[in-house]
Amino acid sequence: MEHVELTADDLLLRPWRDADAPAVRAALRDPAIAQWNPQSGGPVDDEYALLWVRRRADWSGGDHVSLAITDAGGELLGSVSLHHIHHGDASIGYWTVPAARGRGVAVRAVVRLTDWAFTDLRLHRVELCHAVANPASCRVADRAGYAAEGTLRESYQYGDGRRYDEHLHARLATDR
Ligand SMILES: CC(C)(COP(=O)(O)OP(=O)(O)OC[C@H]1O[C@@H](n2cnc3c(N)ncnc32)[C@H](O)[C@@H]1OP(=O)(O)O)[C@@H](O)C(=O)NCCC(=O)NCCS
Repeated sequence: MEHVELTADDLLLRPWRDADAPAVRAALRDPAIAQWNPQSGGPVDDEYALLWVRRRADWSGGDHVSLAITDAGGELLGSVSLHHIHHGDASIGYWTVPAARGRGVAVRAVVRLTDWAFTDLRLHRVELCHAVANPASCRVADRAGYAAEGTLRESYQYGDGRRYDEHLHARLATDR
C-alpha cells in the first residue's frame, strides 16, 4: 500500500518517521496510554520506540495503515491506525498525548481516517473496541459516528494485566 497524508482542519495525519521515536517513547510511557494501548515485547526504551515507528511506517503487508497526528507546527499530538485490514473490514485504534487531549484531536482524526478508508480503501465495516472502564474512548467512538453494538465480556487484557469488558462499536460505509 502506498503512503498517504491526510488533513483534518489544522491536523496533519502522516506516516511515521524515525525522528518521531523520542516523542513516541514519551507517549507510550504515559500511564493512560500504557493502560489502554498496552504494548507487548519489553520495556519502552529508545530501541523499542524506533522499532515501533518503523513497524508502523511499513505498510507493505497491506493489513494496516498507521498515521502520526501532528499540528501545523509538526508537534506530535497522537496516533490513529487501521489494523487487520482484510476483505473490506478493519479495526481502528488511537491515542493522544496528554497535552493534546480535550481539543477534539482524536475525534477529528478518527473521522478523517474512517472516511478515507471507506472512499479510498473501499472498506465496508470498521470496528472500534474500548474498555468499558475507559469512558473518554467511548465518547470518541460516539462522537465519531461509531454505533454501539454490544459488550464483549472480559475480552481483552489491558496494561495492568487484567481482562476488561469492552464495548464494540462500528461504522459501515452505508451508515449516514
Ligand atoms: C481517549 C483519548 C484518545 C481521547 O482523546 P482526545 O483527543 O482527548 O479526544 P477528543 O478531544 O477528540 O474527545 C474527547 C471526548 O471525550 C470526553 N471525555 C474526556 N475524558 C472523559 C471522561 N473521563 N469521561 C467521559 N468523557 C470524557 C471529552 O469531553 C470529549 O467529548 P466532548 O467533545 O463531547 O466534550 C485520550 O484521552 C487518550 O489517548 N487516552 C489514553 C489512551 C486511550 O484511551 N486510547 C484509546 C484506547 S481504545
